[in-house]
Amino acid sequence: MARKVILDVDPGIDDAMALCMALFDPELEVVAVTAVGGNCSPEQATRNVQAVIEQLDPPRWPRLGAASPPDDGLPVDGRHLYGADGLGDTNFDVAERQHLHPSEKVICDQVRDASEGSVTILALGPLTNIARAMARDPDLNALIGQIVMMGGAVSGPGNITPAAEFNVYCDPVSAQAVFRSRSTKTLVPLDVTNRVVLNYDIFNRLPDVSTKVGRFLRKILPSAFRGYRRQFGLEGIHVHDTVALTAVTHPELFSTEEMAGDVETLGELTAGMTVFDRRQAPTWRHNMDVVTDMQTDKVTDVIISRINAAAARAG
Ligand code: BDR
Ligand code: CA
Repeated sequence: MARKVILDVDPGIDDAMALCMALFDPELEVVAVTAVGGNCSPEQATRNVQAVIEQLDPPRWPRLGAASPPDDGLPVDGRHLYGADGLGDTNFDVAERQHLHPSEKVICDQVRDASEGSVTILALGPLTNIARAMARDPDLNALIGQIVMMGGAVSGPGNITPAAEFNVYCDPVSAQAVFRSRSTKTLVPLDVTNRVVLNYDIFNRLPDVSTKVGRFLRKILPSAFRGYRRQFGLEGIHVHDTVALTAVTHPELFSTEEMAGDVETLGELTAGMTVFDRRQAPTWRHNMDVVTDMQTDKVTDVIISRINAAAARAG
């Protein structure tokens, strides 16, 4: 039976790639795609979720959820990498839609509608919606099967400030609430996601423009390459969110360790930093599994092969 997943996303080019992979994966049932502000504003994220679904037109459309701003506003966005609209300035048209429910409500409804422990939430953006869903329904933690989150850094530097990873930095208060919650969770931090770098060769390995997935990715990806070159001087791109998705679909390629993690919400230099009690005699209690290693080449191959499989299924 396919595994039920909710994808919470701030598209974002790597979020959009993860959606391509997940929406056509026969081993996953994507019950909802919920938008969150991060790489772009909440309104734009909602629009982008619609745009991705409309462009790809999966056989079963998931429920969609609308994003709203985090309580303290968004301190930053991802235009430096992904363009002003988050999808490489492609500005896809979207159909007029009726009012969408807020993302946190959609998450609560889908978890409640499914049998206990059967839903995995894959959080690929700031943790705003997940924290709000937990606050809205105090029983939710016990009902969710697992939360897999792309975010944070354990040993290495951040990617938006010296100390902080982008998703956590966007809404540290929500990230702290989720880290401290009594839910079953796995963190996929930058330490591992940074190890997958796609170079221009990817264009020879992607599906061609006769397929929906190929057309879509070939429109959005060039902008990410320009952003990475401009921002980091890199001739390649990271695809963090596709690595986190692969940790859900191919856990055998990843190693995890139990850790005690928390989030700095106030630091002048360290807001959004993830902190782990790795002292010789720790006093914090373990509260999550953290991915510490992976078979990088195999993960990269899975990402590319899943995109091609999605293109073959999507037509
Ligand atoms: C994370 O930040 C975003 O820019 C990406 O989509 C990814 O989720 C990486 O730090
Ligand atoms: Ca993201």
